[in-house]
Amino acid sequence: MELSVQQGDIALFQADAIVVNLFEGVTTPGGATGAVDSALDGAISKLIAGGEIRGRAGELTTIHTFGRIPAPRVVVAGLGKRDAFDTEAIRNLAANVIRYLTRPGVTSVASIVHGAGIGGLDLAECTQALAEGTILGAYRFTRHKAPDKDAAAVGSFTIVERDAGRLGTVAAAAERATIFANATNATRDLANEPSNHLTPADIANFAAKLAADTGLECEILERADMERKGMGSLLSVAKGSHQPPKLVRLSYRGRGSGEVDLALVGKGITFDTGGISIKPAANMEAMKGDMTGAACVINAIGAIARMGAKVNVVAIAPCTENMPGGGASKPGDVVSAMNGRTIEIINTDAEGRLVLADALCYAVELGAKAIVDVATLTGAATTALGDICYAVCTNNEDFARRFEAAASATGEKTWRMPMFKEYDEFIKSDIADQKNSAGAKGAGVTAGAKFLEPFVGSTPWVHLDIASVDDIAATRGWIVKGPSGMAVRPLIELAMAMAE
Ligand code: BES
Ligand code: MN
Ligand code: ZN
Repeated sequence: MELSVQQGDIALFQADAIVVNLFEGVTTPGGATGAVDSALDGAISKLIAGGEIRGRAGELTTIHTFGRIPAPRVVVAGLGKRDAFDTEAIRNLAANVIRYLTRPGVTSVASIVHGAGIGGLDLAECTQALAEGTILGAYRFTRHKAPDKDAAAVGSFTIVERDAGRLGTVAAAAERATIFANATNATRDLANEPSNHLTPADIANFAAKLAADTGLECEILERADMERKGMGSLLSVAKGSHQPPKLVRLSYRGRGSGEVDLALVGKGITFDTGGISIKPAANMEAMKGDMTGAACVINAIGAIARMGAKVNVVAIAPCTENMPGGGASKPGDVVSAMNGRTIEIINTDAEGRLVLADALCYAVELGAKAIVDVATLTGAATTALGDICYAVCTNNEDFARRFEAAASATGEKTWRMPMFKEYDEFIKSDIADQKNSAGAKGAGVTAGAKFLEPFVGSTPWVHLDIASVDDIAATRGWIVKGPSGMAVRPLIELAMAMAE
C-alpha cells in the first residue's frame, strides 16, 4: 500500500472511498465532515437525526454517493466521546477503517486527519497515529499461500489536508509513521516466517541487506569468532543444532563521536524445542517466533538510521536454534560466558538468557552507555500479563522511566516487574557462579531478569520480556492476530529521544 499526503478538499477528492468522522453527541457536523455533508445535501445530518449514525467509538457507516461528489463512497467513522479520545484511539480507528475498506471495489482510500480539529490533539501526533494505524492494521502474512486473485487490497491511501500551512507537518509525520510502521511489519514478517525458512544464517543475511540499504555497519560473528571471544554460554545453546549460530552486530553512527549511546540486544532463537529439557508438542510451532527480539532490534536500528537520528546505536542479535541432539547441552552442564562467569544449566529450555548473557557482555565490551534487551524470555510473562502488555525490568530507575515514556508515546503498554535484591537467591547455584533456572519458585520474569543482570555490570539497563505479546490471539485495532511487532516503535522513539 502506498501512503501519501495531498493538499485539497476531501469532499472533492477522487478515491474509491473517502473517510470523515464524527464525535459522539455531535448533531451538526462541522469541518471536513460538514463540507461532505453539504455536498451530499445533508445526507450525514439526516442519518444522525434518524439515529443511524451516532458517532460511537468503532462505528463505521458507508454512504454511497451516486455521483453527487467524485468519491463513490463516504465512510463516517465514529470517534466516540471527546474526553476518551487520544492518539491511540486514532491508531486503532485507522486500523479498523483500513480493514473495513478492504473489500471488492475499493483500491484507493482518502482520509482526513482525525482528532486535530475539534479533538484538540497535536497535528503531527494525530497524523502519525493515522498513518501507523493504517499500515499496521492492513498487515497480512501471505508469503506461503497461493495467490488469491479475488483478494481485495487497498493500493493507495491518501491523507488529505485542506490547509497549505499544515501540509509540511502532516507530510513529515506521515513519513515518520511509515518508517516506524514498516519496521514493525518487517519484524512481524520475520516472526511469522517458519524456522525452515528463517535460520540464523537467514537472519544474518536479512541484517546484511538492511545494512546495505540504510548505510549501517554490519558484522556477523561466526562460531569460530564466538569461540575466540569466549562466548561459551551462547555456544552451549547452539551445540544441539545443525544450523551454525550467527551473532549479528549492526552499528549506526548518527553523531560524530565513536561512543555507543545505546545498545539494543535481541534474543534470536529461530526455533526453541527446549533442547534436552524438551517442550511438549502442543503449540510448539509457536516457538518459530522465539527470534522476535532479534528481529525487533535489527528493524529498529534500520528505522533509526532511516530517521537520521543524531545518536550512536548498536544492535546485537545472538541467533541460533535450540535443539536436542547428540551434541546438545545437558541439564547440570556448566558453561562460562564471555565475562568469565560460570553458569549451571538446570534447564536447557531456559536458553534465551544463555544467548543473551554473551550478547550483553559484548554490548558492554563495545562501550555501550545504556542497554535495552528484548526477548521472548518466559512463559511467566504471559501468565502475569496476558497478551495486553509486556514486562519491563531494570537496574536503573531513570533509564527505565525514559524507556517507559517512549513506549507510552507509541501507545504500547508495558508493566514494571520487581527487582528486589532478595530475588538474587533465585539464580544462586551450588557449583557455579549462577544457574539458569530457579525451578518452581515463581516470579519467572524477575528470575530471568536477575539471571541477566550480572552481565551488564553497572551499565544502565532495561530488560523487556515480550513473550506475552509475541502471539496475539485476536485482532484488536492496530494489533493484528499473530506476532505484534511490539517494542519496535518504542525502541526507535527512545533512540530519537536520546538524540535530543
Ligand atoms: N521461548 C521460551 C519462552 C516462551 C514461552 C515464549 C511461550 C513465548 C511463549 C523460553 O525459552 C522458555 O522456554 N522459557 C522457560 C524458562 C524456564 C525453563 C525457566 C519457560 O518460560 O518455561
Ligand atoms: Mn526455551
Ligand atoms: Zn526460548
